[in-house]
Amino acid sequence: MRITIFGSGYVGLVTGACLADVGHDVICVDIDSDKVAALNDGQVPIHEPGLETIIRHNLDTGRLRFTTDAARAVEFGLLQFIAVGTPPDEDGSADLQYVLQVARTIATHMREYKIIVDKSTVPVGTAEKVSACVAETLAERGATLAFDVCSNPEFLKEGAAIEDFSRGARIVVGTDSDRVRQAIRECYAPYSRLHDKLIFMDVRSAELTKYAANAMLATKISFINEIANLAEKLGADIEHVRHGIGSDPRIGHHFIYPGCGYGGSCFPKDVQALARTAHQVGHPPQLLEAVESINLRQKDQLFAKLEGAFNGDLAGKTIALWGLAFKPNTDDMREAPSRTLMESLWAAGARVQAFDPEAQDECRRIYGERADLSLCKRRDEALEGADALVICTEWKAFRSVDFAMLKQALASPIVIDGRNLFEPASVKQAGLDYYAIGRGDSLQAALA
Ligand code: UDX
Repeated sequence: MRITIFGSGYVGLVTGACLADVGHDVICVDIDSDKVAALNDGQVPIHEPGLETIIRHNLDTGRLRFTTDAARAVEFGLLQFIAVGTPPDEDGSADLQYVLQVARTIATHMREYKIIVDKSTVPVGTAEKVSACVAETLAERGATLAFDVCSNPEFLKEGAAIEDFSRGARIVVGTDSDRVRQAIRECYAPYSRLHDKLIFMDVRSAELTKYAANAMLATKISFINEIANLAEKLGADIEHVRHGIGSDPRIGHHFIYPGCGYGGSCFPKDVQALARTAHQVGHPPQLLEAVESINLRQKDQLFAKLEGAFNGDLAGKTIALWGLAFKPNTDDMREAPSRTLMESLWAAGARVQAFDPEAQDECRRIYGERADLSLCKRRDEALEGADALVICTEWKAFRSVDFAMLKQALASPIVIDGRNLFEPASVKQAGLDYYAIGRGDSLQAALA
């Protein structure tokens, strides 16, 4: 099947690469000519396990190619995926200008029936806007051509996107057209053959499904973080509580790991956008707003714990920081808790010595060279001359640590663990003051 994908960002690249890999003929279009040239050369601008190998293999097979030539790309595929960005506006709602620009481009160049597939995360009602935009552009051209617009949201996790695309739990499609259903079935047949993963519904429900899924997951995280903070005050251990509640299959073990707050390109943006939509339709989103504000407060927890440990005096201190990415296996620092922490530390006059296995270049790109930030080549180099250690991301390389070495390396024996990586007893046994999330610290400190 011939498929066109607009936008060679994260979602577009994964979609294009995976669809080519199962035998479709795919053209990916992007307006950035440098990016297109690099991609045609097998250079992938994002860090996603397995993606570069699939892209290179399918460039070789000839089933995948990248272009800036929109006219040729529109001509090419029956399915025209829109996978461009929807950055948040100042008010938190999704900015649709790039999506609608692609809709106009498709309408400008199409010469026969096309199916436009909204893959970008877009507010409910966007497919109708895309439809109107295509119809208007066709009318300006004086063309009477049939087309359909459907919604096919993605549920990809960074770091596991290939796996999620190939073996995801479901493929949600919003459409009321049989012709679209048939084409979509053909497109996803390689993934849906053994058991049918396609869930067809109306367009608006599909658009809302995407937001509801992310909002539900964000809610689980804010919920457990709220209980963790309570556990701390009550002298309970959230890790026991998590295990205790997760074993009820109605609750489940997934996505109830307490931490220093959720980040990334999806949860913060999507929760805000859905809340904004709710306001627009006159339904104040009480739960969503609580989810968001709990998360913002959670991102301040690490700094608050450090302040507590140093009696409010962080000026002149050097803090070792392990983990900059918003989660492991990515170099993405969007909305990462590490950023909230570093910015608070700098405002308090402290220095940061950070290490991350993948996100150092990204950190340099965001913050540039500054005297109060050193990016270290190795994990333990970040400890040299540091007063305390904070862990922001649960990279595998941080899970096994010689606590005696840690005690030796740090000027004050303080470890703040935003991901609950260690057993408190073993860290404390090594003579370190250990503050994790929801593990009864404050009560113990108060009793000490
Ligand atoms: C998420 C959704 O999982 C995915 O389905 C959607 O398409 C895009 O958004 P992603 O942002 O890549 O994917 O990351 P995810 O692995 O879901 O983690 C998001 C954030 O939640 C991270 O900051 C992570 O540390 C945090 N998290 C996750 C927790 O704090 N606790 C958990 O139990 C799970």
